[in-house]
Amino acid sequence: MSQKQPAKIVMVSNRGSYNLQATRDGIQVVPAISGLVSAVEPFLREKGGVWVAWGGREAPQENSPGLRLPVPEGNPAYTFREVPLTADEINLYYHGFTNSALWPLCHYFLEKCRYEVREWSAYVDVNAKFAAATLEEAGERDTVWVNDYHLALVPAHLRHRRPQLKQFFFWHIPFPHHDLLATLPWATHILRGLLGTDVLGFHLQAYVDNFLQAVAHMLGARVDFEAGIVFWEQRRIHVGAWPMGIDYQAFQRQAASPATMARAQKLREQIGVERLALSVERLDYTKGILERLLAWERLLEEAPEWRGRAALIQVAVPSRTAVPAYRQLKEQVEATVGRINSRFSDGNYQPVYYFWRGLPRRELVAYYLAADVMLVTPLRDGLNLVAKEYVASRRDQTGVLVLSRFAGAAQELKGAVLVNPYDIDGMAMIFNTALGMGRAEQSKRLQLLQERVRRHDVHWWMNCFHQAMAVREGETGDVSGSAGS
Ligand code: F6P
Repeated sequence: MSQKQPAKIVMVSNRGSYNLQATRDGIQVVPAISGLVSAVEPFLREKGGVWVAWGGREAPQENSPGLRLPVPEGNPAYTFREVPLTADEINLYYHGFTNSALWPLCHYFLEKCRYEVREWSAYVDVNAKFAAATLEEAGERDTVWVNDYHLALVPAHLRHRRPQLKQFFFWHIPFPHHDLLATLPWATHILRGLLGTDVLGFHLQAYVDNFLQAVAHMLGARVDFEAGIVFWEQRRIHVGAWPMGIDYQAFQRQAASPATMARAQKLREQIGVERLALSVERLDYTKGILERLLAWERLLEEAPEWRGRAALIQVAVPSRTAVPAYRQLKEQVEATVGRINSRFSDGNYQPVYYFWRGLPRRELVAYYLAADVMLVTPLRDGLNLVAKEYVASRRDQTGVLVLSRFAGAAQELKGAVLVNPYDIDGMAMIFNTALGMGRAEQSKRLQLLQERVRRHDVHWWMNCFHQAMAVREGETGDVSGSAGS
């Protein structure tokens, strides 16, 4: 890479801005939808750069080089660089270590953690592969932005191979207390891997605190807890909390579209109840779907006046279906929906509508518009953007957001009705309150919520990243005292 080229951003994540799908007619390049894509892609489209990611397909052979595609098709603005993974790697690294060890561990589901050395080895190898692809793409002056628990070892690789590279890392899920982290046999490797970065971001201060305590206790690193700085290998690593925002205006625009409003109206007519509740999430045990269904059933038992008058739409987006815990959950959820419907349905009324599929953005917003009550009740969640999307879509400032106190977003979204998703009776009572809430209170709460979501949107979040990198570039001073050198 020439030093003369302007500095660019190299994004690195397990999934990226595109999914590659092998079809009989060749590779189809399909735009991906995620919070990260909405945040960062507009920036890459404007300024150029590279997105390094797996792309979701199985590599055609062992040593496939990985595609380099100018994207978007027809009007290329940046490069999508594929990191091809073999079937074994997908199984051991993605279904294995990331989603059967790190994911449950970080969400406090210790009983679901599987720690296997061959899965760990695959994680180490795949992280090295991502680092190698990143180094091929990044010039000396570029900034590399690595994402999430899939790639915790990448920063240390990059630091070792190219010490001057500017690095940012964002961890998108909860970061557990070191008591829990210590159960992972390779926990110190994860911490050392992350400390390769210059700036490390989390959604919440609680995750920052957990991380700082972990490096202090488990690695003996010197930490300035107040300033959020770790002194390590003659460097200082800035650690901060920047809860991700959404593209508020895009949701408002979509909600204002006549086609979306008509679709919402049709949905309500089809279901034909007075009060409609909605939940949308990946089918994941962290999301509390089963507990929510049990609370819905309890509501219909204890408050029979809602029978025939209130229904729940549960959209469960298929996810990680090769992992046994997810397949088992699907069976349990479907059996529970079946039981509730057989108990309370009559010829005209059905209490739960269950869909096992994803929804495109415009359809999703129509569902948000149709819903009087949004139930976002995860057992644990790093942040939760669905809650913010519902808030942004309710242009008329009606609707009630019921939010788990264990979702990171509960720290920010002060107008939400908070619930403890482990307390089925308590949750049923809150569903009752939410379904019966008057307009004046709905609108008071929604105003508060919209103010927060509008101000702390995706542009605010991107700006946090720019500011954090600027601090890193401007810093000088004593970095001694490192225990890790
Ligand atoms: O929350 C972490 C995360 O990586 C999100 O960014 C994303 O929505 C979700 O998990 C998707 O998981 P997967 O890539 O396993 O489908």
